[in-house]
Amino acid sequence: MKVSVIGAGYVGLISGACLAELGHDIILVDVDKEKIATINTGKNLPIYEEGLEELLSRVHIKTSSDYAEAASADVFLICVGTTADESGAIFSRHLVTATGQIAAAVKDRQDYYVVAVKSTVSPGTTEEVVIPILEKAGKKAGVDFGVCMTPEFLTEGRGIYNFMNPNRIIIGEYDKRSGDVLERLHRGLDAPVLRTGLSTAEMIKLASNAFLATKISYINEIGNICKRLGIDTYDVARGMGLDDRIGQKFLNAGIGFGGSCLPKDLKILISSAQKADYQPDLLQSVTDLNEAQALKPVELLEKHISLKGATVGILGLSFKPGTDDIRDSRAIRIVRVLLDEGAAVKAYDPLALGKFLELFPEVKAATAEEVVDSDAVLILTEWAEFDKLDYRGRIVIDGRRIEKAREARIYEGVCW
Ligand code: UGA
Repeated sequence: MKVSVIGAGYVGLISGACLAELGHDIILVDVDKEKIATINTGKNLPIYEEGLEELLSRVHIKTSSDYAEAASADVFLICVGTTADESGAIFSRHLVTATGQIAAAVKDRQDYYVVAVKSTVSPGTTEEVVIPILEKAGKKAGVDFGVCMTPEFLTEGRGIYNFMNPNRIIIGEYDKRSGDVLERLHRGLDAPVLRTGLSTAEMIKLASNAFLATKISYINEIGNICKRLGIDTYDVARGMGLDDRIGQKFLNAGIGFGGSCLPKDLKILISSAQKADYQPDLLQSVTDLNEAQALKPVELLEKHISLKGATVGILGLSFKPGTDDIRDSRAIRIVRVLLDEGAAVKAYDPLALGKFLELFPEVKAATAEEVVDSDAVLILTEWAEFDKLDYRGRIVIDGRRIEKAREARIYEGVCW
């Protein structure tokens, strides 16, 4: 099939490369010419993702900044970024622009094509925002073209694996014909396919991420209780997870969730609920607990040293290991507080240091060993290499459970 992937961000790049691997003819469209030029070199991609450079060098995908070149596709897959403000109101500016550009590019086509939204959006968006734009030029959804909403479930660092080995493929369809096309697009992937309405698919994405966020805040709450009672939360989680209704995954207690997805998707869901005149107290608590959890390492540190004038070493800046992504990383809030309180900060991260220093030029870049050689050390991302450092004699506050750090002179885990 000919597929135009709109948006060369994380989701678009990975989806485009993986669909090419499945044998489809891909053109990747992004209005950012610089980004397209970088992708074309195949090196120093705009995102770091394990295996992506290698995959892109193996499969052939065309790129363009001109929608006209992508106009003849069987499927348009919209993968542009969406963001949410503090209130959860979603900014779908890119979605609106991209949809308008697709509508303009296909206006003279007489044959059938499908427009599928992959970007995460609030329930109702495909129906109420995307379809009206596509129909503006006189074409009719379900007659002249098809519409689908097919959410992505990629986790950063494992995106290619997740795409090629999905747990499920969700196809929200305007009508059966549209869904049939999307099902053919995913042929070759071995996973259950669930076909639903458009808003249901949008909700499945948000509800899945909100559930994962809830699981994390739940275990952090248990962890905060365990910490006070002198119980090791990780033993508790292991015991809980043996029940296959609960499972072991996403029960790692610590400083909570960051990244570009879980915090944002919770906000979108809360805002959608409020617009529907429902106050989602549970989801609000998940968010509030996560916010408070970020500052636990600082509270614990202040029990042992005074921050003013101290040098605090930070191990780990990315929102999780395996990525250089610092969006909504816990390190951002923590470092801001440390600096505000008058501490000097040195930091190390195997991938994210450069991006972090752009945000905090006053932070001193250091090696992992130099960071450990500080008045106190905070571990904020569970990079495997942190399990090999020498912490003896140090003060360590561990936000992510690095076993080796327990050898420190003073060691405190946030939830254990
Ligand atoms: C998340 C979801 O896991 C994906 O399924 C989804 O497709 C993606 O969002 C998205 O919407 O695009 P991602 O943001 O890459 O993926 O990261 P996660 O692996 O979910 O981790 C999120 C945060 O939770 C990280 O800060 C991580 O450190 C934290 N976390 C995770 C915990 O604190 N404890 C855990 O047990 C697991």
